[in-house]
Amino acid sequence: MKIDILLGLQWGDEGKGKVVDLITPNYDIIARFQGGPNAGHSLEFNNIKHVLHIIPSGIFHPEKINIIGNGVVIDPLSFKEEIDKLLEMNIDSTKNLHISSKAHLILPTHRLLDAAQEAAKGKSKIGSTLKGIGPTYTDKIGRNGLRVGDILTPNFIEKYQKLKEQHIFLLNQYEYDYEPALAKCEQDWLDSLNTLKKFNIIESEYEINRYLSEKVSILAEGAQGTLLDVDFGSYPFVTSSNTVAAGVCSGLGVAPSFTGKVVGIVKAYCTRVGSGPFPTELFDETGEMLRKNGHEFGSTTGRPRRCGWLDLVVLKYAIMLNGVTEIVLTKADVLSGFDEIKVCTAYDVNGQIVERVPFDNNASIKPVYQSFKGWKEDITMIKEYGKLPLELRNYIDFIEKETQVKISIVSVGPDRNASINK
Ligand code: GDP
Ligand code: IMO
Ligand code: MG
Repeated sequence: MKIDILLGLQWGDEGKGKVVDLITPNYDIIARFQGGPNAGHSLEFNNIKHVLHIIPSGIFHPEKINIIGNGVVIDPLSFKEEIDKLLEMNIDSTKNLHISSKAHLILPTHRLLDAAQEAAKGKSKIGSTLKGIGPTYTDKIGRNGLRVGDILTPNFIEKYQKLKEQHIFLLNQYEYDYEPALAKCEQDWLDSLNTLKKFNIIESEYEINRYLSEKVSILAEGAQGTLLDVDFGSYPFVTSSNTVAAGVCSGLGVAPSFTGKVVGIVKAYCTRVGSGPFPTELFDETGEMLRKNGHEFGSTTGRPRRCGWLDLVVLKYAIMLNGVTEIVLTKADVLSGFDEIKVCTAYDVNGQIVERVPFDNNASIKPVYQSFKGWKEDITMIKEYGKLPLELRNYIDFIEKETQVKISIVSVGPDRNASINK
Protein backbone atom coordinates (compact mmCIF):
# COMPACT_ATOMS: atom_id res chain seq x y z
CA MET A 1 0.00 0.00 0.00
CA LYS A 2 1.24 3.51 -0.84
CA ILE A 3 0.48 6.76 0.93
CA ASP A 4 -1.54 9.30 -1.08
CA ILE A 5 -0.77 12.98 -0.77
CA LEU A 6 -3.04 16.03 -0.89
CA LEU A 7 -1.50 19.49 -0.97
CA GLY A 8 -1.96 23.07 -2.14
CA LEU A 9 -0.52 24.19 -5.48
CA GLN A 10 -0.65 27.94 -4.87
CA TRP A 11 -0.03 30.16 -1.81
CA GLY A 12 -2.20 28.25 0.68
CA ASP A 13 -5.92 28.46 1.42
CA GLU A 14 -6.79 26.55 -1.75
CA GLY A 15 -9.51 24.61 0.09
CA LYS A 16 -7.43 21.67 1.33
CA GLY A 17 -9.51 21.23 4.49
CA LYS A 18 -12.76 20.91 2.57
CA VAL A 19 -11.34 18.39 0.13
CA VAL A 20 -9.63 16.27 2.80
CA ASP A 21 -12.93 16.06 4.70
CA LEU A 22 -14.69 15.16 1.46
CA ILE A 23 -12.37 12.29 0.53
CA THR A 24 -11.65 10.99 4.05
CA PRO A 25 -14.24 8.19 3.54
CA ASN A 26 -11.78 6.71 0.99
CA TYR A 27 -9.02 6.38 3.62
CA ASP A 28 -8.41 4.80 7.03
CA ILE A 29 -5.96 7.40 8.28
CA ILE A 30 -5.30 11.12 7.68
CA ALA A 31 -1.86 12.44 8.63
CA ARG A 32 -0.41 15.95 8.72
CA PHE A 33 3.28 16.06 7.75
CA GLN A 34 4.41 19.68 8.15
CA GLY A 35 3.46 23.16 9.26
CA GLY A 36 1.70 24.09 12.46
CA PRO A 37 -1.00 26.41 13.73
CA ASN A 38 -0.16 28.86 10.93
CA ALA A 39 -2.53 26.67 8.89
CA GLY A 40 -6.26 27.25 8.95
CA HIS A 41 -8.18 24.46 7.22
CA SER A 42 -11.92 25.07 6.93
CA LEU A 43 -14.58 22.54 6.24
CA GLU A 44 -18.33 22.70 6.34
CA PHE A 45 -21.23 20.28 6.73
CA ASN A 46 -24.73 20.54 8.24
CA ASN A 47 -24.40 24.33 7.87
CA ILE A 48 -21.58 24.49 10.41
CA LYS A 49 -18.12 25.73 9.48
CA HIS A 50 -15.13 24.29 11.33
CA VAL A 51 -11.59 25.63 11.21
CA LEU A 52 -8.71 23.32 12.09
CA HIS A 53 -5.10 24.35 12.64
CA ILE A 54 -3.00 21.31 13.39
CA ILE A 55 -5.62 18.63 13.80
CA PRO A 56 -5.98 16.75 10.49
CA SER A 57 -9.16 17.42 8.55
CA GLY A 58 -10.33 13.82 8.89
CA ILE A 59 -11.30 14.39 12.53
CA PHE A 60 -15.04 14.73 11.82
CA HIS A 61 -15.17 11.09 10.71
CA PRO A 62 -15.03 9.36 14.11
CA GLU A 63 -14.12 5.93 12.76
CA LYS A 64 -10.91 7.24 11.14
CA ILE A 65 -7.49 7.69 12.72
CA ASN A 66 -5.72 11.05 12.50
CA ILE A 67 -1.99 11.48 13.01
CA ILE A 68 0.07 14.59 13.66
CA GLY A 69 3.43 13.63 12.18
CA ASN A 70 7.01 14.39 13.20
CA GLY A 71 7.30 17.19 10.63
CA VAL A 72 4.58 19.26 12.33
CA VAL A 73 5.26 21.89 15.00
CA ILE A 74 2.78 21.97 17.88
CA ASP A 75 1.82 24.76 20.22
CA PRO A 76 0.25 22.87 23.15
CA LEU A 77 -1.85 25.89 24.10
CA SER A 78 -3.42 26.36 20.69
CA PHE A 79 -3.75 22.56 20.44
CA LYS A 80 -5.74 22.59 23.70
CA GLU A 81 -8.00 25.32 22.31
CA GLU A 82 -8.66 23.21 19.22
CA ILE A 83 -9.38 20.13 21.32
CA ASP A 84 -11.72 22.12 23.60
CA LYS A 85 -13.66 23.38 20.56
CA LEU A 86 -14.15 19.80 19.40
CA LEU A 87 -15.28 18.80 22.90
CA GLU A 88 -17.95 21.51 22.76
CA MET A 89 -19.34 19.55 19.81
CA ASN A 90 -19.08 16.30 21.78
CA ILE A 91 -16.13 15.12 19.74
CA ASP A 92 -13.60 13.40 21.98
CA SER A 93 -10.51 12.89 19.86
CA THR A 94 -8.27 11.31 22.52
CA LYS A 95 -8.86 7.86 21.01
CA ASN A 96 -8.43 8.56 17.30
CA LEU A 97 -5.87 11.36 17.21
CA HIS A 98 -2.24 10.29 17.66
CA ILE A 99 0.78 12.54 17.91
CA SER A 100 4.38 11.88 16.94
CA SER A 101 6.85 11.98 19.82
CA LYS A 102 9.23 13.68 17.39
CA ALA A 103 7.01 16.65 16.50
CA HIS A 104 8.61 19.86 17.78
CA LEU A 105 7.05 22.09 20.44
CA ILE A 106 6.29 25.77 19.90
CA LEU A 107 7.16 27.56 23.15
CA PRO A 108 5.60 30.86 24.19
CA THR A 109 9.01 32.46 23.57
CA HIS A 110 9.02 31.12 19.98
CA ARG A 111 5.87 33.12 19.35
CA LEU A 112 7.41 36.18 20.95
CA LEU A 113 10.56 35.79 18.88
CA ASP A 114 8.40 35.57 15.75
CA ALA A 115 6.73 38.85 16.73
CA ALA A 116 10.03 40.56 17.65
CA GLN A 117 11.74 39.45 14.43
CA GLU A 118 8.83 40.52 12.25
CA ALA A 119 8.63 43.91 13.98
CA ALA A 120 12.39 44.39 13.46
CA LYS A 121 12.02 43.71 9.72
CA GLY A 122 9.76 46.74 9.34
CA LYS A 123 8.64 47.19 5.74
CA SER A 124 10.33 43.98 4.60
CA LYS A 125 8.32 41.83 7.02
CA ILE A 126 7.21 38.40 5.80
CA GLY A 127 3.67 38.79 7.04
CA SER A 128 4.04 35.76 9.33
CA THR A 129 0.97 34.48 11.10
CA LEU A 130 3.01 35.10 14.30
CA LYS A 131 2.36 31.58 15.54
CA GLY A 132 6.08 30.98 16.22
CA ILE A 133 6.65 28.82 13.15
CA GLY A 134 9.97 30.31 11.94
CA PRO A 135 11.72 30.32 15.35
CA THR A 136 10.52 26.76 16.14
CA TYR A 137 11.82 25.30 12.88
CA THR A 138 15.01 27.36 13.40
CA ASP A 139 15.53 25.59 16.74
CA LYS A 140 14.73 22.24 15.13
CA ILE A 141 17.36 22.65 12.42
CA GLY A 142 19.75 24.29 14.89
CA ARG A 143 19.37 21.21 17.12
CA ASN A 144 18.07 23.14 20.09
CA GLY A 145 14.38 22.28 19.95
CA LEU A 146 12.10 20.42 22.32
CA ARG A 147 9.86 17.64 21.09
CA VAL A 148 6.54 16.24 22.18
CA GLY A 149 8.28 13.15 23.60
CA ASP A 150 10.28 15.42 25.91
CA ILE A 151 7.16 16.34 27.92
CA LEU A 152 7.11 12.77 29.23
CA THR A 153 10.67 12.97 30.60
CA PRO A 154 11.24 13.82 34.30
CA ASN A 155 13.48 16.83 33.62
CA PHE A 156 11.22 18.47 31.04
CA ILE A 157 10.84 21.68 33.05
CA GLU A 158 14.60 21.99 33.28
CA LYS A 159 14.91 21.60 29.48
CA TYR A 160 12.11 24.11 28.99
CA GLN A 161 13.78 26.69 31.26
CA LYS A 162 17.10 26.26 29.47
CA LEU A 163 15.58 26.89 26.03
CA LYS A 164 13.49 29.75 27.38
CA GLU A 165 16.63 31.42 28.78
CA GLN A 166 18.26 31.21 25.34
CA HIS A 167 15.18 32.80 23.81
CA ILE A 168 15.14 35.58 26.40
CA PHE A 169 18.74 36.35 25.60
CA LEU A 170 17.70 36.72 21.95
CA LEU A 171 14.55 38.68 22.76
CA ASN A 172 16.66 41.19 24.67
CA GLN A 173 18.48 41.99 21.41
CA TYR A 174 15.26 43.42 19.99
CA GLU A 175 13.36 46.52 20.94
CA TYR A 176 10.36 44.45 21.84
CA ASP A 177 8.50 44.41 25.12
CA TYR A 178 7.99 40.67 25.51
CA GLU A 179 7.62 40.45 29.29
CA PRO A 180 3.89 41.22 29.72
CA ALA A 181 2.89 38.74 27.00
CA LEU A 182 5.15 36.04 28.44
CA ALA A 183 3.83 36.56 31.96
CA LYS A 184 0.29 36.32 30.62
CA CYS A 185 0.57 33.04 28.73
CA GLU A 186 3.40 31.01 30.24
CA GLN A 187 1.43 29.25 32.98
CA ASP A 188 -1.44 28.49 30.59
CA TRP A 189 1.06 27.00 28.17
CA LEU A 190 2.59 24.80 30.88
CA ASP A 191 -0.90 23.73 32.02
CA SER A 192 -1.88 22.88 28.45
CA LEU A 193 0.81 20.18 28.38
CA ASN A 194 -1.64 18.10 30.43
CA THR A 195 -4.02 18.07 27.46
CA LEU A 196 -1.23 16.89 25.17
CA LYS A 197 -0.39 14.10 27.63
CA LYS A 198 -3.92 12.68 27.31
CA PHE A 199 -3.19 11.70 23.71
CA ASN A 200 -1.41 8.70 22.33
CA ILE A 201 2.15 9.91 21.79
CA ILE A 202 3.55 7.51 19.23
CA GLU A 203 6.58 6.76 17.11
CA SER A 204 4.53 7.64 14.07
CA GLU A 205 7.12 6.55 11.52
CA TYR A 206 6.93 2.97 12.83
CA GLU A 207 3.13 3.04 13.04
CA ILE A 208 2.62 4.52 9.59
CA ASN A 209 4.96 2.01 7.95
CA ARG A 210 3.29 -0.83 9.83
CA TYR A 211 -0.12 0.39 8.65
CA LEU A 212 1.10 0.57 5.05
CA SER A 213 2.45 -2.99 5.26
CA GLU A 214 -0.98 -4.08 6.56
CA LYS A 215 -2.66 -2.39 3.56
CA VAL A 216 -4.25 0.34 5.66
CA SER A 217 -4.87 3.39 3.44
CA ILE A 218 -3.35 6.73 4.43
CA LEU A 219 -3.78 10.26 3.09
CA ALA A 220 -1.09 12.84 3.90
CA GLU A 221 -2.62 16.31 4.32
CA GLY A 222 -0.41 19.23 3.37
CA ALA A 223 -0.55 22.68 4.89
CA GLN A 224 0.30 26.04 3.29
CA GLY A 225 1.00 25.80 -0.44
CA THR A 226 3.81 24.99 -2.84
CA LEU A 227 4.72 28.64 -3.37
CA LEU A 228 5.25 28.96 0.39
CA ASP A 229 7.77 26.08 0.43
CA VAL A 230 11.02 27.08 2.14
CA ASP A 231 13.10 25.86 -0.83
CA PHE A 232 10.89 26.56 -3.82
CA GLY A 233 8.64 29.43 -2.73
CA SER A 234 9.43 33.12 -3.12
CA TYR A 235 12.11 33.03 -0.42
CA PRO A 236 12.23 34.70 2.09
CA PHE A 237 8.46 35.27 1.78
CA VAL A 238 7.71 31.66 2.59
CA THR A 239 6.96 29.46 5.57
CA SER A 240 9.68 27.41 7.26
CA SER A 241 8.84 23.90 6.12
CA ASN A 242 8.82 21.82 2.94
CA THR A 243 5.23 22.04 1.81
CA VAL A 244 5.91 20.00 -1.35
CA ALA A 245 5.30 16.26 -1.73
CA ALA A 246 8.89 15.52 -0.71
CA GLY A 247 7.95 16.83 2.75
CA VAL A 248 5.79 13.74 3.25
CA CYS A 249 8.89 11.53 3.27
CA SER A 250 10.71 13.50 5.96
CA GLY A 251 7.56 14.65 7.78
CA LEU A 252 6.09 11.18 8.26
CA GLY A 253 9.05 8.88 7.75
CA VAL A 254 7.72 7.31 4.55
CA ALA A 255 10.17 6.32 1.80
CA PRO A 256 9.67 7.85 -1.69
CA SER A 257 8.93 4.41 -3.10
CA PHE A 258 5.88 4.25 -0.81
CA THR A 259 4.19 7.40 -2.09
CA GLY A 260 1.17 7.08 -4.38
CA LYS A 261 -1.33 9.55 -5.83
CA VAL A 262 -0.66 13.27 -5.47
CA VAL A 263 -3.85 15.33 -5.38
CA GLY A 264 -3.18 19.01 -6.02
CA ILE A 265 -5.71 21.52 -4.74
CA VAL A 266 -6.09 24.56 -6.98
CA LYS A 267 -8.31 27.56 -6.41
CA ALA A 268 -9.99 28.71 -9.63
CA TYR A 269 -8.15 32.03 -9.15
CA CYS A 270 -5.26 32.99 -6.84
CA THR A 271 -4.95 34.42 -3.35
CA ARG A 272 -2.04 35.16 -1.09
CA VAL A 273 -1.81 36.42 2.51
CA GLY A 274 1.31 38.14 3.75
CA SER A 275 4.09 39.72 1.72
CA GLY A 276 5.92 38.56 -1.40
CA PRO A 277 5.54 38.44 -5.18
CA PHE A 278 2.11 37.79 -6.65
CA PRO A 279 2.31 38.48 -10.40
CA THR A 280 -1.44 38.29 -11.17
CA GLU A 281 -2.57 40.31 -8.15
CA LEU A 282 -5.45 42.66 -8.93
CA PHE A 283 -5.63 46.02 -7.20
CA ASP A 284 -8.89 47.11 -8.82
CA GLU A 285 -12.60 46.39 -8.39
CA THR A 286 -12.16 42.96 -10.02
CA GLY A 287 -9.79 41.98 -7.20
CA GLU A 288 -12.26 43.41 -4.71
CA MET A 289 -15.07 41.35 -6.25
CA LEU A 290 -12.99 38.15 -5.98
CA ARG A 291 -12.31 38.94 -2.31
CA LYS A 292 -15.96 39.71 -1.61
CA ASN A 293 -17.49 36.78 -3.52
CA GLY A 294 -14.88 34.34 -2.23
CA HIS A 295 -14.94 35.64 1.38
CA GLU A 296 -11.19 35.88 1.10
CA PHE A 297 -10.20 36.65 4.65
CA GLY A 298 -7.63 34.51 6.52
CA SER A 299 -8.93 31.49 8.46
CA THR A 300 -6.13 31.90 11.02
CA THR A 301 -5.55 35.65 11.20
CA GLY A 302 -8.67 37.22 9.62
CA ARG A 303 -6.43 39.31 7.33
CA PRO A 304 -7.87 40.21 3.89
CA ARG A 305 -6.30 37.94 1.28
CA ARG A 306 -4.69 39.47 -1.80
CA CYS A 307 -6.60 38.27 -4.89
CA GLY A 308 -5.80 37.81 -8.58
CA TRP A 309 -6.28 35.64 -11.67
CA LEU A 310 -5.15 32.03 -12.02
CA ASP A 311 -1.43 31.79 -12.79
CA LEU A 312 -0.40 28.84 -14.97
CA VAL A 313 3.32 29.61 -14.64
CA VAL A 314 3.03 29.03 -10.91
CA LEU A 315 0.65 26.09 -11.34
CA LYS A 316 2.88 24.22 -13.79
CA TYR A 317 5.87 24.80 -11.48
CA ALA A 318 3.89 23.34 -8.57
CA ILE A 319 2.74 20.35 -10.65
CA MET A 320 6.35 19.66 -11.62
CA LEU A 321 7.67 19.90 -8.05
CA ASN A 322 4.95 17.66 -6.61
CA GLY A 323 4.41 15.15 -9.41
CA VAL A 324 0.70 15.93 -9.26
CA THR A 325 -1.46 13.11 -10.60
CA GLU A 326 -4.86 14.85 -10.36
CA ILE A 327 -6.24 18.28 -9.59
CA VAL A 328 -9.23 19.31 -7.50
CA LEU A 329 -10.43 22.72 -8.64
CA THR A 330 -12.05 24.71 -5.83
CA LYS A 331 -14.14 27.87 -5.59
CA ALA A 332 -15.30 27.68 -9.21
CA ASP A 333 -18.59 29.23 -7.96
CA VAL A 334 -16.72 32.41 -7.00
CA LEU A 335 -16.09 33.14 -10.70
CA SER A 336 -19.86 33.32 -11.45
CA GLY A 337 -20.85 36.85 -12.43
CA PHE A 338 -17.62 38.02 -14.10
CA ASP A 339 -17.97 39.14 -17.73
CA GLU A 340 -14.41 38.12 -18.47
CA ILE A 341 -12.07 35.69 -16.72
CA LYS A 342 -8.33 35.77 -17.30
CA VAL A 343 -5.60 33.19 -16.96
CA CYS A 344 -1.91 34.04 -16.93
CA THR A 345 -0.04 31.81 -19.39
CA ALA A 346 3.43 33.41 -19.28
CA TYR A 347 5.35 36.36 -17.85
CA ASP A 348 6.76 39.33 -19.69
CA VAL A 349 9.95 40.13 -17.77
CA ASN A 350 11.50 43.29 -19.19
CA GLY A 351 10.24 42.46 -22.68
CA GLN A 352 11.23 38.79 -22.55
CA ILE A 353 8.46 36.19 -22.49
CA VAL A 354 9.24 33.52 -19.90
CA GLU A 355 7.36 30.52 -18.54
CA ARG A 356 9.42 30.12 -15.38
CA VAL A 357 9.09 31.70 -11.97
CA PRO A 358 11.98 34.23 -11.80
CA PHE A 359 14.53 33.95 -8.98
CA ASP A 360 14.41 37.68 -8.36
CA ASN A 361 11.47 38.66 -6.14
CA ASN A 362 11.73 42.20 -7.44
CA ALA A 363 11.65 41.26 -11.13
CA SER A 364 9.12 43.43 -12.90
CA ILE A 365 6.65 40.89 -14.20
CA LYS A 366 3.80 41.67 -16.59
CA PRO A 367 1.47 38.68 -16.81
CA VAL A 368 0.54 37.55 -20.32
CA TYR A 369 -3.17 36.76 -20.18
CA GLN A 370 -5.54 34.60 -22.12
CA SER A 371 -9.10 35.80 -21.81
CA PHE A 372 -12.23 33.69 -21.30
CA LYS A 373 -15.89 34.55 -21.47
CA GLY A 374 -17.53 34.43 -18.05
CA TRP A 375 -20.96 33.12 -17.03
CA LYS A 376 -23.71 34.57 -14.90
CA GLU A 377 -25.56 31.65 -13.37
CA ASP A 378 -25.25 30.51 -9.76
CA ILE A 379 -23.63 27.05 -9.90
CA THR A 380 -23.60 26.20 -6.20
CA MET A 381 -26.49 23.72 -6.42
CA ILE A 382 -25.30 21.89 -9.54
CA LYS A 383 -24.44 18.22 -8.97
CA GLU A 384 -23.52 17.01 -12.47
CA TYR A 385 -20.51 18.09 -14.44
CA GLY A 386 -22.44 18.29 -17.71
CA LYS A 387 -24.83 20.85 -16.19
CA LEU A 388 -22.08 23.37 -15.45
CA PRO A 389 -22.05 26.39 -17.78
CA LEU A 390 -20.22 25.76 -21.04
CA GLU A 391 -17.94 28.74 -20.31
CA LEU A 392 -16.74 27.10 -17.08
CA ARG A 393 -16.22 23.77 -18.83
CA ASN A 394 -14.15 25.58 -21.46
CA TYR A 395 -12.08 27.16 -18.69
CA ILE A 396 -11.54 23.73 -17.10
CA ASP A 397 -10.63 22.13 -20.46
CA PHE A 398 -8.04 24.85 -20.97
CA ILE A 399 -6.46 24.24 -17.55
CA GLU A 400 -6.31 20.48 -18.20
CA LYS A 401 -4.82 20.99 -21.65
CA GLU A 402 -2.17 23.41 -20.40
CA THR A 403 -1.18 21.41 -17.32
CA GLN A 404 -1.65 17.94 -18.81
CA VAL A 405 -3.27 16.90 -15.52
CA LYS A 406 -6.88 15.74 -15.13
CA ILE A 407 -9.27 17.66 -12.90
CA SER A 408 -11.11 15.01 -10.88
CA ILE A 409 -13.43 17.14 -8.75
CA VAL A 410 -14.85 20.64 -9.16
CA SER A 411 -15.83 22.30 -5.88
CA VAL A 412 -18.69 24.80 -6.13
CA GLY A 413 -19.22 25.81 -2.50
CA PRO A 414 -17.74 25.41 0.97
CA ASP A 415 -20.05 22.56 1.96
CA ARG A 416 -18.97 18.92 1.71
CA ASN A 417 -21.87 18.33 -0.68
CA ALA A 418 -21.01 21.16 -3.04
CA SER A 419 -18.58 18.97 -4.97
CA ILE A 420 -18.91 17.59 -8.49
CA ASN A 421 -17.07 14.53 -9.75
CA LYS A 422 -15.80 15.09 -13.25
P1 GDP B 1 -7.14 25.58 3.25
O1 GDP B 1 -6.20 26.29 4.16
O2 GDP B 1 -6.52 25.17 1.97
O3 GDP B 1 -7.85 24.44 3.93
O4 GDP B 1 -8.26 26.64 2.85
P2 GDP B 1 -9.02 27.66 3.84
O5 GDP B 1 -9.97 26.89 4.64
O6 GDP B 1 -8.05 28.52 4.58
O7 GDP B 1 -9.72 28.62 2.81
C1 GDP B 1 -10.64 28.16 1.88
C2 GDP B 1 -11.97 28.88 2.13
O8 GDP B 1 -12.82 28.67 1.04
C3 GDP B 1 -12.72 28.38 3.35
O9 GDP B 1 -13.47 29.42 3.89
C4 GDP B 1 -13.64 27.29 2.76
O10 GDP B 1 -14.81 27.10 3.53
C5 GDP B 1 -13.97 27.92 1.43
N1 GDP B 1 -14.21 26.99 0.32
C6 GDP B 1 -13.62 25.81 0.05
N2 GDP B 1 -14.05 25.33 -1.15
C7 GDP B 1 -14.93 26.24 -1.62
C8 GDP B 1 -15.69 26.34 -2.84
O11 GDP B 1 -15.63 25.50 -3.72
N3 GDP B 1 -16.48 27.45 -2.98
C9 GDP B 1 -16.54 28.43 -2.04
N4 GDP B 1 -17.32 29.47 -2.26
N5 GDP B 1 -15.84 28.37 -0.90
C10 GDP B 1 -15.03 27.29 -0.70
P1 IMO C 1 -3.04 26.95 5.06
O1 IMO C 1 -2.59 25.60 5.50
C1 IMO C 1 -1.93 30.90 3.62
C2 IMO C 1 1.86 32.54 5.03
C3 IMO C 1 1.81 33.74 5.95
C4 IMO C 1 3.11 34.42 5.59
C5 IMO C 1 4.04 33.24 5.35
C6 IMO C 1 4.89 32.87 6.56
O2 IMO C 1 -4.26 27.44 5.74
O3 IMO C 1 -3.12 27.04 3.57
P2 IMO C 1 4.43 31.75 8.90
O4 IMO C 1 3.37 31.97 9.93
O5 IMO C 1 4.47 30.37 8.37
O6 IMO C 1 5.77 32.22 9.39
O7 IMO C 1 4.06 32.72 7.69
O8 IMO C 1 3.22 32.15 5.02
N1 IMO C 1 1.07 31.38 5.50
C7 IMO C 1 -0.08 30.99 4.94
N2 IMO C 1 -0.82 31.56 3.96
N3 IMO C 1 -2.34 29.74 4.16
C8 IMO C 1 -1.59 29.16 5.12
O9 IMO C 1 -1.86 27.93 5.59
C9 IMO C 1 -0.44 29.81 5.59
N4 IMO C 1 0.50 29.52 6.53
C10 IMO C 1 1.41 30.49 6.45
O10 IMO C 1 0.68 34.54 5.68
O11 IMO C 1 2.97 35.10 4.37
MG1 MG D 1 -6.10 28.10 5.19
